[in-house]
Amino acid sequence: MDSVVISIGGSVLVPNENDADYLKTLAGLLSRISSIHKLYIVTGGGRIARYYITSGRVLGASEKNLDEFGIEVTRLNARLLSTALGDLANPKPALNIDEATELGKNHQIVVMGGTEPGHTTDAVSAMLADKIGAARLVNATSVDGVYDSDPKKNKDAKRFKRVSHEELVALTSEIKGMAGPTVIFDPKGSEIIKNAKIPLYVCHGRDLGALENAVLGKDFDGTIVD
Ligand code: UTP
Repeated sequence: MDSVVISIGGSVLVPNENDADYLKTLAGLLSRISSIHKLYIVTGGGRIARYYITSGRVLGASEKNLDEFGIEVTRLNARLLSTALGDLANPKPALNIDEATELGKNHQIVVMGGTEPGHTTDAVSAMLADKIGAARLVNATSVDGVYDSDPKKNKDAKRFKRVSHEELVALTSEIKGMAGPTVIFDPKGSEIIKNAKIPLYVCHGRDLGALENAVLGKDFDGTIVD
């Protein structure tokens, strides 16, 4: 049975728009797919992580402490998703890649958030995909694919159907140079999947049809990076 890692942005899980309804439907979808693929899900922090990071920064917390705030929130989001998944998933998020790998022996779905300061959950999902030899990594995010510039800022941004790992690395490091949190995939994560030659499927996480097809490796509305 192939394994698939899914990185779900916090901006998708908890944007404050019917979040419980969405989580319930998402959990139903993941439960069905888990009879076909072993699933490893890494949850992001979203607006709640940003709230703690912004407030903590004003209060004088160190960057390491701010990252730790973010990690706590990603793990809280993982628990919320685990709750919706019930017995199929581990109730408490795996704390690191090794623990997630271990949990995969007894659970059809493994859920985790962040691990340690210095990167985002995209990088965690890339490390996990590399460790378990995933067939693919799906990035369920708040845009519907990889664009040549940020589509939330530039209405003329062009979406790619398919790009190479090298192009993704170039795109993410360019955006990183411009600063700001909206990077389609963490530059560190991009480098890891390039070296490990793991295909990345990028889709909108609230488009459950696209997400299902991406996880199943079928034609989907989004971008393939390989
Ligand atoms: P996210 O993975 O949600 O970061 O982790 P993000 O990409 O900035 O957020 P989205 O995708 O737009 O929702 C939130 C924060 O938690 C810390 C980082 O500070 C990160 O920005 N974090 C997370 C870590 O330090 N280590 C981790 O392994 C994960």
